[in-house]
Amino acid sequence: MKKVDVVLGLQWGDEGKGKVVDVLTPNYDVIARFQGGPNAGHSLHFGGKKFVLHTVPSGIFRDGSMNIIGNGVVVDPVILAEEIAQIEATGIDMVARLKISKRAHLILPTHRALDAASEAAKGKSKIGSTLKGIGPAYMDKTGRNGLRVGDILLPDFMERYQALKDKHLFQLRQYDYQVDVDAYEQEWFRGVESLKRFEFVDSEMLVHDYLAKDATILAEGAQGSLLDIEFGTYPFVTSSNTLCAGVCTGLGVAPTRIGEVYGIFKAYCTRVGSGPFPTELFDSTGETLRQVGNEFGATTGRPRRCGWLDLVALKYAVMMNGVTALIMMKSDILNDFDTIKVAVGYQLGDKQVDYFPYEADDSIVPIYREFPGWNCDICNVRSFDEFPQQFKDYVAFIEAECGVPVKIISVGPDREETIIR
Ligand code: GDP
Ligand code: IMO
Ligand code: MG
Repeated sequence: MKKVDVVLGLQWGDEGKGKVVDVLTPNYDVIARFQGGPNAGHSLHFGGKKFVLHTVPSGIFRDGSMNIIGNGVVVDPVILAEEIAQIEATGIDMVARLKISKRAHLILPTHRALDAASEAAKGKSKIGSTLKGIGPAYMDKTGRNGLRVGDILLPDFMERYQALKDKHLFQLRQYDYQVDVDAYEQEWFRGVESLKRFEFVDSEMLVHDYLAKDATILAEGAQGSLLDIEFGTYPFVTSSNTLCAGVCTGLGVAPTRIGEVYGIFKAYCTRVGSGPFPTELFDSTGETLRQVGNEFGATTGRPRRCGWLDLVALKYAVMMNGVTALIMMKSDILNDFDTIKVAVGYQLGDKQVDYFPYEADDSIVPIYREFPGWNCDICNVRSFDEFPQQFKDYVAFIEAECGVPVKIISVGPDREETIIR
């Protein structure tokens, strides 16, 4: 029986998962999302066009691919319906190409309001959430109150909706948070109606049927390993299991059925939202990374915080995910740096550590190793041999530290700007 391959982010999200999944899709029959929701923004560039996907898997633009929204995902019908309409406008038959798990949880309009209320109440210590209702929706899931996609077809869906909404309105009053959800609610029910054209499936059965037929499946992660609810920089994390383990729970795949684990990282590092970021740069170098890298959120437009590559954190993510192949993205953004730094350890008070500790907070001082930059444009490179020696040395160091080969290198946002070794 075939295994499920996985693509997931090793940093704080936005590593370039959308691009890589789109590039890899021709090798796969099925692409499936297993966690997260519309907090994700996955960008794809091809044929001179750009698309940003939030809930729909990034295989959707490739002929012959089946795309599954798995049980571990949380779905906002407004955002999903908008996304579907945009893709349909390109001529793609979405009903044929997209299946949605009955077990995926719904994000209600009041989940969004609760997200905003919780953030407002936290004040300065806010998470910096995308305000898409992710945290409250997963809280209702684990609290055993949630509504699921399959519930849409139940005769008492409206009563269930109203009961959960009432509970949320009560909570919002506790927050003393004034919010008008009526307008969004109307759109929400329109979204719910439009989703009824799609087949709601037992996605775990569908995935296993495909595996039994020797079909190839790629699981597409959202967010990044350092935003994982268990092992990320808690509480500044998202509310789902972003690690490889999330594929098992979010798609219903046994651990023994996981195949290749592709771990994606940027040649430097970014983060959007609050929380520790040991290698963050507050100087002109950080600003250069943001401008050259166009580091502004694909979902919220917020400027992303930028810094050097953090190998301590990367090695931790490689270990926690069982990464079998690394993918380095946005290598071209470092074209014009004389010196490139990489964190190889942390100074934590009076001790030095080379692992990602529980105490990973703002008091960490990174210990850097410096590399000479390549100082030339690598955007047109299409085979590994063509890269300058300084670039090859940078890659070799990362491979040696992580103990995993870098198998794909990205030198631009377009599908074509990719080197597969
Ligand atoms: P995701 O959330 O992991 O899918 O990543 P995002 O789409 O949020 O952010 C990655 C951004 O970098 C997008 O704007 C991509 O188009 C862009 N991108 C991806 N790979 C490369 C690359 O190798 N070079 C450059 N310059 N941009 C890239
Ligand atoms: P993709 O899939 C980057 C961040 C938010 C915030 C924290 C919690 O595009 O890589 P949430 O809305 O999930 O409650 O926010 O997580 N965050 C992301 N950062 N990329 C993402 O997704 C993110 N999804 C959530 O900024 O700090
Ligand atoms: Mg993104």
